[in-house]
Amino acid sequence: MEFDVPKFLSFHLSLLILVASTSIEASGSSSLSSSAAEIVSRFQQYLQINTAHPSPNYYEAADFLVSQAESISLESQTIEFVKGKPLVLLKWPGTRPDLPAILLYSHTDVVPSEIDKWKHDPFSAHIDQHGHLYARGSQDMKCVGMQYLEAIRRLKASGFQPLRSIYLAFSPDEEIGGHDGAGKFVESEFLKNLNIGIMLDEGLASPDENYRVFYGERSPWWLAIKATGAPGHGAKLYDNSATENLLKSLESIRSFRSSQFDMIKAGLKAEGDVCSVNMVYLKAGTPSPTGFVMNLQPSEAEAGFDIRVPPIADPESLERRIAEEWAPASRNMTFWFVEKAPVRDESGNPIITKTDSSNPWWGLLEDAIRKAGGKLKKPEIFPAATDSRYFRRLGLPAIGFSPMANTPILLHDHNEFLNRDVYLKGIEIYESIIKAYATYLEKGGNRESRDEL
Ligand SMILES: *[C@@H]1O[C@H](CO)[C@@H](O)[C@H](O)[C@H]1NC(C)=O
Ligand SMILES: [Zn+2]
Repeated sequence: MEFDVPKFLSFHLSLLILVASTSIEASGSSSLSSSAAEIVSRFQQYLQINTAHPSPNYYEAADFLVSQAESISLESQTIEFVKGKPLVLLKWPGTRPDLPAILLYSHTDVVPSEIDKWKHDPFSAHIDQHGHLYARGSQDMKCVGMQYLEAIRRLKASGFQPLRSIYLAFSPDEEIGGHDGAGKFVESEFLKNLNIGIMLDEGLASPDENYRVFYGERSPWWLAIKATGAPGHGAKLYDNSATENLLKSLESIRSFRSSQFDMIKAGLKAEGDVCSVNMVYLKAGTPSPTGFVMNLQPSEAEAGFDIRVPPIADPESLERRIAEEWAPASRNMTFWFVEKAPVRDESGNPIITKTDSSNPWWGLLEDAIRKAGGKLKKPEIFPAATDSRYFRRLGLPAIGFSPMANTPILLHDHNEFLNRDVYLKGIEIYESIIKAYATYLEKGGNRESRDEL
């Protein structure tokens, strides 16, 4: 796709770096090290900025992030691919710019909240007696964005110097599909020029002690099926009415749904490995002033489904199933669907990030987490969509990881919270990962794919 040079580009390269970088790093000055209270308070400040859809306060978030960047002498750039939707790009230059860089990615927007269902205002960032920090975005995913920054703050304070350059991208609009954020970013010259070798993005909380990591995601398919049939009196029993024909499809879809769900229930498959199907609307009937005409069988009936297709699934066989079993023309049915993201790349391979020895970034991540005292579950397919898909589609390795162990999964839910100690632990984990990634010396990082960018 074409790319227009962004019209609303503002570039404020922090002058601070010139003055600050050498002296502060050399002395390991205490101005860069913080108490836990200060760290948590910065997280609260970010959470208190209302970036909920439908009218996220993106500029306030961007200003906050740029000021954070300045306080730790990172270069900063604010890019508006679409007016009103800034993407904040920060850089910690490495001493070996010839090596592929690291991209620490997060989104700044959050989903709306039903405020009356919350114990504490979702933008108060209230901390209760258990240390739970309540806020929209505390899990999804302002935590991660701030943890990256805090980890870098600590690394700088310790005098660490990265070999590889480290970029942080804070992107808008993930919660509404990411087209004006990640979508535009991956098409841009900006990304191409960064020479990224690996990107980290969001994952999910884990109710037990093991962190979860994600190496791919399911593709949403939005399917509508429609049956037509002769209308008739409500009292008449006859074959091939529209609702009868649709019901046959619903039965078949339900049994497929059960077969998939059963594999999860039996512990044979994880949520991201099965093909989920859920009915999201059902449309039929002849309206009357009081509701529906009750003695008339309608001539049309329609249903809509949200399907999530794992990258390992065979998209052709699902399409066949839809055409032959769920909406067969022989039953006077039609269907249409949108595949929101491809599950295969151009050569027909599943779009996933390798989690074996062929991907050095994977091993480095595993080791770094372990070294920092974290435990990992087997890598999973993310059950829903994230911005990672835009990067994986380019052939870039992308790993979804939000370090939240012993935490209920509350993204998009009422009373989203993250415990303070879990948050602080996550900073240590990122410190370990960034250190490992930034000092990794092999060429590494998927060269062929990068050339395609
Ligand atoms: C399909 O529609 C045709 C034309 O209305 C009708 O004759 C036929 O019985 C229908 N078949 C089914 C299976 O509904
Ligand atoms: Zn998210």
